[in-house]
Amino acid sequence: MNFEKYPFEKLSELLADINPNEDYELAALTIGEPKFETPKFLQECLKENTSLLQKYPASAGLPELKESMINFVQKRFNVKLEMNQVIPTFGTREALFNFPQFALFDKENPTIAFTNPFYQIYEGAARASRAEVIHINLTKENNFKAQLSDEQLKKCDLVILNYPNNPTSAEMTKSELSGWVKKALEFDFILVNDECYSEIYFDEKDKPASLLEASIEVGNSEFKNVLVMNSISKRSSAPGLRSGFIAGDAEILKDYMKYRTYVGCASPVPLQKAAAAAWNEESHVEGFREIYRENFKVAQEILGVKPPKATFYIWLEVEDELEFTKKLFEEKHIKVLPGSFLGREGIGKGYVRIALVENVQKTKEVLTRLKDFIDG
Ligand SMILES: Cc1ncc(COP(=O)(O)O)c(C=O)c1O
Repeated sequence: MNFEKYPFEKLSELLADINPNEDYELAALTIGEPKFETPKFLQECLKENTSLLQKYPASAGLPELKESMINFVQKRFNVKLEMNQVIPTFGTREALFNFPQFALFDKENPTIAFTNPFYQIYEGAARASRAEVIHINLTKENNFKAQLSDEQLKKCDLVILNYPNNPTSAEMTKSELSGWVKKALEFDFILVNDECYSEIYFDEKDKPASLLEASIEVGNSEFKNVLVMNSISKRSSAPGLRSGFIAGDAEILKDYMKYRTYVGCASPVPLQKAAAAAWNEESHVEGFREIYRENFKVAQEILGVKPPKATFYIWLEVEDELEFTKKLFEEKHIKVLPGSFLGREGIGKGYVRIALVENVQKTKEVLTRLKDFIDG
């Protein structure tokens, strides 16, 4: 099976022969992994439940975990899900990889569309499904907002959106997402929004919308053809707890649940207990949001970039992203990710992705170093 190399592997190859300036400490602004300690109450909860390792975890997940997810969706998006409208997943990555394989399995000419640039797993899922791919190109000209022609939509069996978007930090409003829901009903394709960054927002009065809310807005309150995925990895600084969910169309989820029994990726019970605590608690997330808010303030002061509505990424326009990445590493010992490693068909060229996942002090120091480099 012909999978592309992962972007971080491509980066290692790009930088392999370069001797970085050792006057500076290495600063890796590459990976979307928050560098903050997982809150103590989550670690404690995990420890308290280790005796439950004795049990096989059920694929459906503990009822209390599902309830915590339902509670989160209710509080955050004012959407009331039923128990059959949500499935806990082992993070979202596994579901993003295997859901397309499940959804496309019996299609004659399987076709998937996803935003481009993208989180690498979407492409891997398309390859594993032997699906034809339609790239939804996100460019400066279209404000990085997903759009396809009706001709293209007619061909789609599955569309994956990702708003708030990695890597461009773009957002789509509820009414823009509603437009996509209407298209999913009109052309009968499954529409998924990967909402992993929905909680890394900065304005309490202007939070990113969920596709579930958008679906209700157009009268599709049973979520026909509509699904979202979300995760505590970014929200709770807990990627190691591996907790995500897929929620929406109960008809689709019923069959997907059966499929997942065979995949066998149920989360260990102690992790489920700690994950439930994370979904149920909000103040720790507010603490993390405050750090990212400060980081973007610093980025605005130093680099002049406008803070996005959500995510912790800067999608920085540069002349030649590969040269920029190499020289920045050589001269300042800073790693960033070339946009072209995250896109296809020329998308991502002329950009680098910078992840602001460190504390404010470190962010300030590294961005000042980066600015020095830009100013030459
Ligand atoms: C857009 C996007 N989706 C999904 C994931 C996967 O997150 P997890 O499997 O930890 O839920 C990531 C992680 O970086 C991501 O950037």
